[in-house]
Parts: sequence; C-alpha cells; structure tokens
Amino acid sequence: MGQQNFEKQIDSLLNLMTLEEKVGQMNLYSGFYDATGPAPKGGNAVEKYEHLKKGWVGAMLNVRGAEQTKKLQEIVVNETRLGIPLLFGLDVVHGQKTLAPIPLAEAASWDLQAIENSAKIAADEAAAEGVHWTFAPMVDISRDARWGRVMEGAGEDTYLGSKIAIARVKGFQGEDLSAPNTIAACAKHFAAYGFAEAGRDYNTVDVGTYTLYNMVLPPFKAATGAGVKTFMNAFNILNGVPATGDAMLQREILKGKWNFDGFVVSDWGSVAEMIAHGHAKDSTHAAELAANAGSDMDMASGSYLKNLTGLVKEGKVDESKIDDAVRRILRVKFELGLFEDPYRYSDIDREKERIYHPDHQAGVLEMAKKSIVLLKNDGNVLPLDKDQKGIVVIGDLADDKNSPLGSWRLASDDDSAVSFLEGMDAYTKEYTFVQGPTAFYSASFLQHVKVNETDTSGIQEAVEAAKSAEVVIMVLGEHGFMSGESRSRTTIDIPVVQKKLLKAVYEVNKNIVLVLMNGRPLTITWEAENIPAILETWQLGSQTGNAIAQVLFGDYNPSGKLPMTFPRSVGQVPIYYNHYSTGRPVNKEGNVFWSHYADEENSPLYPFGHGLSYTSFQYSDLQVDATDPKNVKVSVSVTNTGNRAGEEVVQLYLQDPYASIVRPVKELKGFEKIMLEAGTSKTVSFNLTDKELGFYNQQYEWVVEPGSFNVMVGTNSQEGLSGSFVVDQ
Ligand code: NOJ
Repeated sequence: MGQQNFEKQIDSLLNLMTLEEKVGQMNLYSGFYDATGPAPKGGNAVEKYEHLKKGWVGAMLNVRGAEQTKKLQEIVVNETRLGIPLLFGLDVVHGQKTLAPIPLAEAASWDLQAIENSAKIAADEAAAEGVHWTFAPMVDISRDARWGRVMEGAGEDTYLGSKIAIARVKGFQGEDLSAPNTIAACAKHFAAYGFAEAGRDYNTVDVGTYTLYNMVLPPFKAATGAGVKTFMNAFNILNGVPATGDAMLQREILKGKWNFDGFVVSDWGSVAEMIAHGHAKDSTHAAELAANAGSDMDMASGSYLKNLTGLVKEGKVDESKIDDAVRRILRVKFELGLFEDPYRYSDIDREKERIYHPDHQAGVLEMAKKSIVLLKNDGNVLPLDKDQKGIVVIGDLADDKNSPLGSWRLASDDDSAVSFLEGMDAYTKEYTFVQGPTAFYSASFLQHVKVNETDTSGIQEAVEAAKSAEVVIMVLGEHGFMSGESRSRTTIDIPVVQKKLLKAVYEVNKNIVLVLMNGRPLTITWEAENIPAILETWQLGSQTGNAIAQVLFGDYNPSGKLPMTFPRSVGQVPIYYNHYSTGRPVNKEGNVFWSHYADEENSPLYPFGHGLSYTSFQYSDLQVDATDPKNVKVSVSVTNTGNRAGEEVVQLYLQDPYASIVRPVKELKGFEKIMLEAGTSKTVSFNLTDKELGFYNQQYEWVVEPGSFNVMVGTNSQEGLSGSFVVDQ
C-alpha cells in the first residue's frame, strides 16, 4: 500500500494545538502505574498521571499488553482536549515473547530473508500486545568485543550491517505501517555509540569524519532508504558535542542531506545527561540545545516538558522548530493508523492468538539454526551419529532455560527457552548429564551477573564422568545477561571456573565438542588449539536446544559465518578485518620496528566471515571483466566437494590499493548465500558499480577514484581467490 499523505490533517491539528500541547507530544514517559489497577497513590506517578490527562505526554515506553495499552489510551483519547492518541514504544529487539536469537547471532546467518522474517515475527507479537514502536534495530557498527552491546547489533562490518539494517526495518514495518501486525522501527544510536572508548558503555567517542562517513553512518542511511520511521540519538559525544545536542548529525545530515521525515527520539535521559557531559549548564539549557539540534522527543528526562514552553516564549527556541518536531511525531501516529483507530493494536483476542504462535516458534527455530557457526571440526567429530552412545554432557548452561533468551527480552517469560538438554532429549535419552560447578549465582536484567569465580566443587564429578565417555559435550560461556547494555567486560574469556572445568576434563578425555553460548566474541585461543570441535551458538532464544541439537546430530548443516572478528587476546581489541595498512605492515628489515605486538600475532583467532560446514566448498575460475568501468563483473565457480548438501556464504572483498584517502586493506562489497547439493557447482556473479567502488571523502562527497582495484572472492575475509582490474575514467 502506498504511503498516504497526512500533511493537511497534520496542519489542521497543529493549528488547534496550544504550545503546551505541542510540547506534550514531544514528551516520552516510561510506564508509571498499573493502568488496570486503581489510580496511582504516591510519588511522581501521580504527577505523571495528571500530565497524561492534560495532554502533556505524547508517547510512553515500557507499557505493553492489549489491556494495559487500551486503558492508558482511553485516558488520553477521552480526557485530553484534543484526544491525540499515545504512541507506545518498547525495546522489541529480538522478539516480544517468542524470542529469536540475539541480533549478533542473527547477523551470523547472513540470511537477509530470515532476518526480515524474524523482525516480522517480533512485530506481529509486539503489535498484538499493543506496542506501536520498537527501539530497534540497533545499527551501530562496533569493533570492540568488550562492549556489551555488540550483542544487539550486526557486528563490525558496514556493508553487512547496512543490508541487515534494511532487512530489519522491512521486517518490523512491513508494507503497510497501519496494519495491526506491523510497528514503527527506530534506527539507533545516532551516531557512533558503538565506538565507545575502551569498550566501556556510555564512554567517550572520538572518531574522525572519515570513519564516521564510511563506517558509522552508512547503516543509518540504509535504514532511511528502507523507510525507517524513527531514529534514536545516542549517549555519547562526537567531536565534543553530545549526539543529543548535535545539529550537524540530526539537522544537517539526517533531516537535511538524507531527507528523513520521521522523528528523532533521545536516548533515555540523554537530554539531561548533557549536563553531566559538561555541555549544558542546567536542564533548561539542555532542553534548548537538544530541541535546537533536532531531537524531537525527550525520552524520560522530562526536560522538554519542564522547559520548552518557556524557552519558546523567551525566543531561545523558535516555535517553528517545535512545529517541525510535532509534525514529525504526528506523521508517524497517522501512518500507524492511530487517528483512525487508537485501539487498533490493543486487541485482547488477537493477543491471545498471536503470542507464542506455533508459526513463530517455527520461524525462530529456522533463524536459530542459521545463526550457529561451526568454528572448528577437526577429524569431523561433528555431526554426531544419531545412535551415538557414551555421550556425557557437562556444564551448567546445558540445563539453563533462561540464559539462552539473551539480554533484551523485556516482555518474554523467564525460563521459556528450550534448553540444550531438552533439545538433546528429542534425539536421544542415552546420555549422562553432569552439571559441574555452578557457573552463575544470580542473573537479572537490572543487576550484574554474579559469576562463580572461585568455587570449583563439581569439577571432580565431571572429570570422573568424562573419563569413560565416548564423546564429551561441554556447554560453556557467558550468561545471557553478561552482554547487553552496560555489560562491558575487560576480559572476554570463558569465565574462569568454567575454563578450569574444561581443562580438567580435557586432561582425561580429549574428544570434546565445545558448545559455546555467548553474546560477544570471546578469546578462546587455548580452546581453538586443543578442542577438536567448537560450535558457536550465541544466545539463540526460545528454540535454543532444538536448534543446537539439529546441528549436532546433522539434521541441519551449519552455515553461519562470523559477523565479528574473534581476537586471540583482548589486548588486540579493537580488531577488525577492514583495517588500514599502516606504513609498516610487514617485517621487512628483520628488526622490531614494524607494526606488531611483542607478545602476540597481529592476526585474529577467527577472522570475520569465518564459519565451517559439514561439507566442503572449493572456489575456482575467478573471472573479472572491467570492460564497463561502471559495471565491473566478477564471477566465481563454487563446488560442493563433500558428501552432503550445504549452504555457503560466498563473500566478495574489494581493495582500492592507493587513493587520495587511504582505503582499508579489504572491504566486503558483496555476498550471496547459496545451497549446493553434494558434488554440484554453481557460478556466483557480482556487479561492482560506483556504489561498491567509491568512498566518502572528508567533505562527505561520494567519489570513485580511477586506478587499480584488487578483488578477492572466498569463504571468509582471509581465504579466497584474488584478481585485479583497472577502472579508467
Ligand atoms: C537505553 C538504551 O540505550 C536504548 O537503546 C533503549 O532503547 C532505551 N534505554 C529504552 O529502553
């Protein structure tokens, strides 16, 4: 359905609104009381409730449920002067109740259709719970595995990240935003939040314009191209200005150059946080800076409501800016169909029908299988025979129904994941499970996980069981709440007691399959050297156990590829495949003066794009045809040389070896996921146009510089067939 034009209706509404009512639309409160219960009795809930009735609240977050949202909507529709419906927002990041894998895991699928479908499932359930708007997708590029929020993004690469941003926006918003099963998406955090120094959340960001334009902004731009309705700004500073108060980002680039006609919401409290940053004098000043810079809606700080009316009267914020912000907010409300029917999304029968729908479970199971990455499989330990005897499963996480749900699951039910063991049960009951030491003492969304760092009791029992096992499956890693917002770590190892357990078991039985659960790349150097088979399963959501079991027993041939580099040591971080060369990239002179570490290699443990299959693929016959410099054709033949069908992500990397501004050693510029039956081949073709060959210069202009290019097509960012071509202009 084409987008309807609501501008006339918005004009008439704006004409009717008082300044206070306009500012009210720009105010986003967090849920403050149980709408189905009695009216609030104390604290600031009473005040907020009064604000709601006065029309001083345009949107709310953290309210969900058909009944709750309906009750709150009734207050606004029936009791405010103009009855402008509320917008209900929530962090629907990888599902509402039925949970898909965490976004980083989904990115490992490189399967855009599956990712779009996963967002569609999330939207369907969220909309059925009365939610209109998700604070997703997070499209921040990050190269720092210490940062806990890497779980929420698509990894380190701009090209892959842009494609995934589009898929997620399309999945959430669908074709028709006013349909009762689609919701408005939000590209966040604008911008460069993923470059927090030292991987510490909320920390200072200092990126140059070149990195900003070429690495950070493209996924945001891609999201606008896909029609994303909202943006969220960020907690960080950029060139000394908090993103929330940054007019260059919000007005010049987003609303100017990119013609974005949706609205920008601040991050939680980020308007007021400009005071702590040292940019605003006080809350009034913060509101002035943010509104002038183009932040249209204030999440949770209350600074707009308190100050904007006065600021307009004093002439510090022009009313036209307020009108522009309100117009943008109303536009999204119109497009969602809320003026036609404010209760469209709050339908109790629909809620009952859609939540945990079997189709959704099937969808997230597919997504989960595709997200698993086979990191290592020496001697083809995997897949296991379906009648494999003598299996011993070790590790607390194997029995955990909560951790695999990940970090962002505000609406889901605790302990609702199919555990690893439950997944095993569907294949065989003939295994022994030994928990080993307690891995975590407590874990929740609001507190840090209490990790067992000392108590090794339980290791001996596991070692005894492992001695006579034919194969030992060890399920180890991070708890789902160890990554996510404000979950930065300085070490990114498997927690210490679990690692001791692994080493102790290894002493008595080396035939180990390591099933990793984690929300970020981990430093698993010892494991990669010693353990024959390693399966990266991240946090896979509701269907975790079923997905892993299908891979372990060979009913699904793993096809995931890493969307983020795995370092050898945390000291290498930030480590990413599309780095620059430096002036001293190799050890030419045989002395120490080249760019390296004294105590570790430069190379990663597992490179970006790495992932094995139960079959093998051979690349041959790379053809490059640059006759038309505006459309360079590259093709390669891929053959499945193993004995079972499998999927391969064919990856194309490009290098511009010298340019007016140095270019990365390589950059992903194309990929295709193909399925090949055993023994068959396929030719995969790519077209390279200005879009792939160019880059942004310091003036934020897109340029293609004539000259030679190197191209590599292969199975990951380090292995492939290489060619080159020249582009003359
Ligand atoms: C803060 C986070 O940074 C943001 O991503 C999220 O949407 C809001 N909190 C609301 O929960």
